[in-house]
Amino acid sequence: MLETVTEGQVSFCIGPAFYRVQSQVGRDLAVLAATVDRQRQGELRVLDAMTGCGVRPLRYQQEAGADWVWANEANPELQAVLSRNLAEGMRPDTYCITHQDANQLFFDCYQRRDFYDLVDVDSFGSPTPFISTALWVTKLGGLLYLTSTDGRATSGHAPDKSLQVYGAYARSHPAVHEQGLRLLIGRVAQQAAARGLQIQPVFSVFNGQVHRAMVRLLAHAAWDSSLYGFLAYCHSCGQFHTAGWRQLGRVQCSCGAEHPPVLSGPLWLGRLHDCPMLTAMAAQAERWGWVERRSLLQTMWAEAELPPYYYPLAELGRRGRMDIPPRDRLIQALCDRGYQATRTHLDAQAIKTTAPIATCIATARALA
Ligand SMILES: C[S@@+](CC[C@H](N)C(=O)[O-])C[C@H]1O[C@@H](n2cnc3c(N)ncnc32)[C@H](O)[C@@H]1O
Ligand SMILES: [Zn+2]
Repeated sequence: MLETVTEGQVSFCIGPAFYRVQSQVGRDLAVLAATVDRQRQGELRVLDAMTGCGVRPLRYQQEAGADWVWANEANPELQAVLSRNLAEGMRPDTYCITHQDANQLFFDCYQRRDFYDLVDVDSFGSPTPFISTALWVTKLGGLLYLTSTDGRATSGHAPDKSLQVYGAYARSHPAVHEQGLRLLIGRVAQQAAARGLQIQPVFSVFNGQVHRAMVRLLAHAAWDSSLYGFLAYCHSCGQFHTAGWRQLGRVQCSCGAEHPPVLSGPLWLGRLHDCPMLTAMAAQAERWGWVERRSLLQTMWAEAELPPYYYPLAELGRRGRMDIPPRDRLIQALCDRGYQATRTHLDAQAIKTTAPIATCIATARALA
């Protein structure tokens, strides 16, 4: 007898499938975005390419109102638990189950011109082997949801690996959780652009272990190189900069350090989230009484327009040789000085701000 678990509105058995409670935040946000799109477009067809025990098909239908869900899982040993979960929790004739490699499925769907409003690729490691193919089955205007568990490569501990996988050299610095999201989005943006399309991030989330990004696939617009460039970090003073392609070879820090900043990239330098979508998702979270998710969405909304990096409080304390400053008082003090500053969902013990690091340290010291 398999144990039944409940998540959101749905109940299911896990059996031998891979299922993590900690990933619920990623599933909750996807359900909110899918709900908003279903309400706006009147239809939602989902392709869940790596479904495991089928928690996502259940949630996309029961909570987001999906009209049709294709649940695919390469491992045929999950057939029993998956078919049982979906038979018990889905409306008949509104779903199908297959056990194929995700790329085979994408090729097959594309050949039949069977396109989806939401394509979910919850892969292990890097999603790169599935990005270009998943884009072929995502409707124009539709959503593609990607997962990366490739923390070693994205945090600068394996730059050769990140080069192979993301086409970008990732260096180590204090804002690597954000870098993981930006490498992932940058890869999708470049792959979409190679096909004459563009993407817009809907939301990006890091739950402490896993990076996830949901993007909307849009028709072609002029390629904007300023959205796909480099993050520079000065090891001497701790200041981050962004650098465009024409600045390569000329990046210097205003602190006058002997060594130039180290560069990571190319990666996505645009917004991490689509604020109007976050607002709609937060309203839905409120209707459902999802207090924690609503608060997370508010934090994401506040960070969306800030520079593509953050400063951990411990880093400010270390560089300023002082105790770790209190986060919310530092944010307020920086705002009082005319800078934008906010907490970030990427690290509860960090701030995002337009203020230079020297100002952050001076402000923190004044507070101490
Ligand atoms: C992270 S788990 C999925 C978890 C599930 N989406 C959830 O939210 O609980 C990844 C799943 O993808 C399956 N998988 C791995 N490679 C695959 C491939 N190339 N095509 C389809 N499924 C694959 C694995 O068997 C595993 O069940
Ligand atoms: Zn410097």
